[in-house]
Amino acid sequence: MEKFVIVGGTPLNGEVTVSGAKNAALAIIPAAILCRDVCRIENVPTTISDVSFMIKTLRHIGAGVKLIDKSTIEIDSRHVSSYVISHDMTKYLRASYYFIGALLGRFHKASVAMPGGCYLGPRPIDQHIKGFEALGAKVTVEDNAIVEAVADELVGSPIYLDVVSVGATVNIMLACVMADGLTVIENAAKEPHIVDLANFLNSMGADIRGAGTDVIKIRGVGSLHGCTYSIIPDQIEAGTFMVAAAATRGNVLVKNVIPKHLESISSKLIECGANVEEYDDSVRVSMDCRPGKCNIKTMPHPGFPTDMQPQMSVLLSIADGTSIVSESIWSNRFRYTEQLSRMGASITVDGQIAVIHGVDCLKGAPVKADDLRAGAAMIIAGLAATGKTEIEDILYIDRGYEHVVEKFGNLGADIKRVYCVEPFSVSDAG
Ligand code: EPU
Repeated sequence: MEKFVIVGGTPLNGEVTVSGAKNAALAIIPAAILCRDVCRIENVPTTISDVSFMIKTLRHIGAGVKLIDKSTIEIDSRHVSSYVISHDMTKYLRASYYFIGALLGRFHKASVAMPGGCYLGPRPIDQHIKGFEALGAKVTVEDNAIVEAVADELVGSPIYLDVVSVGATVNIMLACVMADGLTVIENAAKEPHIVDLANFLNSMGADIRGAGTDVIKIRGVGSLHGCTYSIIPDQIEAGTFMVAAAATRGNVLVKNVIPKHLESISSKLIECGANVEEYDDSVRVSMDCRPGKCNIKTMPHPGFPTDMQPQMSVLLSIADGTSIVSESIWSNRFRYTEQLSRMGASITVDGQIAVIHGVDCLKGAPVKADDLRAGAAMIIAGLAATGKTEIEDILYIDRGYEHVVEKFGNLGADIKRVYCVEPFSVSDAG
């Protein structure tokens, strides 16, 4: 077991380069099996564990995967032979369910165990299933454990999503890209990674229009071919460094970003008193005073992203005044507030609303990462706090952030990854 040990109180200063977007990579990697050809994908965050699991799954079904350099992979899908993915492969991450859409698109059948992933509240897949069925697939979920989808043929169809779902939008795009005729996804998700997936599929020969709006039109094509494609920068990793810079009253140039993707984050930071300067592909965040309060409501893109809510709440926990944070995507995304309270934060949670009374400063304490973004929030809290913070369960953080110690360390943070012995349990007593 490993943990991060942080000695806080040092303003972050310098430059950091953001990796490729995790959530785009997790959609694009399975999409590569839709062609019987070779795809070269650049700007992949190859060292995060979610990507490692996707690569492992690709190999399991017969794809060849080569690491060309530290952020480029080549996927050879000519010999993909299996449409079955077991629980061993899917239990660690949510995005494993993108193989349902991709295998259905390629073989017209898929047998994929239900996905794991961070617990953020119930994560139903009814909209994915509704989409597959609209395309003509018969879908059964056995014992709530394995999703079986099979279709004699896939036929394009209008599909209205009852909730704006990133996952369902991705999965339907994967399943219908080679269907017969036109599919129209209405009330589609508009996140940057949806646009990135559409651009990747179009580079493979697909005919997708409207990605980035709430109506996506996909005209099925007979086949797809290999391509070379570079994944967009990670909006949430960028936002995490931006908030860390502000929370430590530092001055950081965050490089390899698309500033347009960061607008909702930048505007909240500015509201809190940070200076945010945008350049072509970088953004500088600095803060030279105590942050001011602000209210936040998470929304699907282009609203404030739920995946930045815990990090931003850390900044608000040391703000001058009381802030209200409303979480409207996930029903259980405030568990980290308990950890933050151990560091001296004053937060009251009622359902999906947190009321944060800013305190003068946080104090280092032993805490844990409840999930990926909760873990990122704990890092920011540790960096901003006085004294030592130890963060356990960092495997969640390793799912989505590359080179954490190196990247924060280069900005002047005192952060170490240390091995720790598992706590003694009664069963160890023999
Ligand atoms: N929903 C349904 N039915 C469905 C699908 C979703 O009711 O069939 C509901 C969910 O319960 C939730 C809402 O719709 O309340 C949005 O869920 P969505 O499907 O958009 O989420 P997701 O695809 O499971 C992705 C990201 C999450 C991010 C959300 C929201 C990936 C791999 N995951 O999840 O990212 O929080 O979109 O933006 O892309 C993270 O990176 O830390 C992370 C959790």
